[in-house]
Amino acid sequence: MFSYRHAFHAGNHADVLKHTVLIAALDHLLEKDAALTVVDTHAGAGLYRLDGDYAGTSGEAADGILRLLGPKAPKPAELSPALQRYLEVVGAFNPNGGARVYPGSPFIVQHLLREHDKLKLFELHPTDSRTLSANIAQLEAGRQIAVLHEDGFGSATKFLPPPSRRALVLMDPSYEIKSDYGRVLDFAAEALKRFATGTYAVWYPIIPRPEAHDLPRRLKTMATKAGKSWLHATLTVKSSKLLTTATGETKRPGLPASGMFLINPPYTLKALLQPALEQARDLLAQDRHAAFSLDSGG
Ligand SMILES: C[S@@+](CC[C@H](N)C(=O)[O-])C[C@H]1O[C@@H](n2cnc3c(N)ncnc32)[C@H](O)[C@@H]1O
Repeated sequence: MFSYRHAFHAGNHADVLKHTVLIAALDHLLEKDAALTVVDTHAGAGLYRLDGDYAGTSGEAADGILRLLGPKAPKPAELSPALQRYLEVVGAFNPNGGARVYPGSPFIVQHLLREHDKLKLFELHPTDSRTLSANIAQLEAGRQIAVLHEDGFGSATKFLPPPSRRALVLMDPSYEIKSDYGRVLDFAAEALKRFATGTYAVWYPIIPRPEAHDLPRRLKTMATKAGKSWLHATLTVKSSKLLTTATGETKRPGLPASGMFLINPPYTLKALLQPALEQARDLLAQDRHAAFSLDSGG
């Protein structure tokens, strides 16, 4: 169950999509003074070294964030505001420039939160949970942040609704096991029942698997039936077709695309993401199948 380690994938194209959307949503939610609670049901280790052993093995960041920073990248001022903001946040962890350190969702969120906001982090992998606790301890954030070595799907709804009745919940499982798709849906349904006005964000991989295909469709039905607004953003960087090597073997192309589905998204999000996704498609394209989509409703 636990072969997935986010360190191999940190800063890849899926993280660029996920974290750009997350930052844009949080920036809007943090405009109001009232306290915000952020629940991260699948937190990961929190911080990653892009020059370390894990990230170096797969080099996924090279076709992700590093393309936005490399010599061929546009000048920061030529980037769309949402991508500029994403790079600004990652840049805060790299005072000497570049992206040797990549912040995962816990550190991105903590960087943006104000003193009176709260962050609840769930991580079940024993090693990642220990690393996350150690990384978070260095922030000396006291009671602002809780790290829970628990099943995010099983118990994160206990924080809903939060006392201030303002929350963003990020659901970012690894989808190693097929049941993760169904558990996202059950969790989102339960969370919406407990706290109908929360903002819910689900990341998912776009891969040739029926459950992955059905997930956004079923989330859309859930939101629509509950009378809630929704937003669906996807980013494709390459074809999903199997590759044939020089020796005639077939191999998987690696993750070709991913999506973010939000229920109760900030109303400003769509306009902000449109130019960012267009630019991300062009900058992160690995072949002519690169594309993006952005839909909303409710
Ligand atoms: C995609 S990673 C999270 C990345 C992180 N959200 C980020 O953006 O930086 C998914 C994480 O979920 C953890 N995990 C898997 N099943 C879990 C569960 N049931 N509850 C909590 N964490 C789980 C994995 O160990 C992995 O670290």
